[in-house]
Amino acid sequence: MSQRRKLAAGNWKMNGLQAQLDEVAALAGAHTDPGCDILICPPATLLSRMADRAAGSFVAVGGQDCHPALSGAHTGDISARMLADAGASHVIVGHSERRTDHGEQDAVVRGKAEAAIAAGLVAVVCIGETLEQREAGETLRVIGTQLAGSVPDGIDAASLVVAYEPVWAIGTGKVPTLGQIAEVHNFMRAGLVARFDRAADGVRLLYGGSVKPSNATEIFAVSNVDGALVGGASLKADDFGGIIAALERA
Ligand code: 13P
Repeated sequence: MSQRRKLAAGNWKMNGLQAQLDEVAALAGAHTDPGCDILICPPATLLSRMADRAAGSFVAVGGQDCHPALSGAHTGDISARMLADAGASHVIVGHSERRTDHGEQDAVVRGKAEAAIAAGLVAVVCIGETLEQREAGETLRVIGTQLAGSVPDGIDAASLVVAYEPVWAIGTGKVPTLGQIAEVHNFMRAGLVARFDRAADGVRLLYGGSVKPSNATEIFAVSNVDGALVGGASLKADDFGGIIAALERA
């Protein structure tokens, strides 16, 4: 197994006004030599200013979505190249809220991931089952389908992160058992290795869904969990700092 540097990623979703940029300054100041990578994905309106505030620190900044095309007549959308131009190094694609709110299917997510990588960004591809799918025993089938359909061909480990986010665990305070997380993460690793061979060893697999400082340590001890994609608890530097500290100890 290759050495994968852990990643603590924060997804601010549709939260954050200028005043919250102080949280990033606090985070950057508190983690001057972090034992893991740190990423914050603010709303697009804050991206450029956040990148300025984080410049010279170990906090990377990313987008929350991008369009599959490089440019063109797509009112309201943002291209991967624009995100890079604004200071982003990563972009989340295929988040379940995009899949639900905007009807995004795997093929679209894959196109977005391809556009991200072509623009020099790291694509953070999100997949996850609904509660109904889990209760019907379909979790691994759904994960396998989403992984195959959303991840582009010809990846290299440095430009791809996959986040497992069970839809029912997002923002609910509910977390899968450690055994359930291990089952899915080991399954994802095996699927990526079957498809990409050695290149899959270095792909980081994040868990996301109600990660908090209080549950982070046990989640980070699960095999093939290389970090977290954090929603609510990433909005405050103190909370996110607690999760980062747990990851550094893992
Ligand atoms: P919460 O951490 O708020 O459950 O959100 C998880 C998530 O959706 C991150 O992308």
